[in-house]
Amino acid sequence: MFSSYETTKQTVTIILDGKPQRVPAGVSVAAAVLGTGKTHTRTSLISGEPRAPFCMMGVCYECLLEIDSRKDQQSCQVQVKEGMIINRQIRTNGEEK
Ligand code: FES
Repeated sequence: MFSSYETTKQTVTIILDGKPQRVPAGVSVAAAVLGTGKTHTRTSLISGEPRAPFCMMGVCYECLLEIDSRKDQQSCQVQVKEGMIINRQIRTNGEEK
């Protein structure tokens, strides 16, 4: 699950926020998203502040993403797959955008 970008040779294509991205095969969705340069995966429902993966081991729940139409998935616990559709959960004033 924690393969290094430098040592991973194979890639898969994911659709992140509507745009295709080539990412290393075998990494977690959270690692793949961070590797594309995104600084956060969601915003807080209460404060609207940006949130990003922290523990990378399924404890903090800061990495929640919509994965293949399923909201609030712990992206650090899911391995990327070819064609996976991933949307960051960015909300403003309680509404997703
Ligand atoms: S990064 Fe902490 S639960 Fe996923």
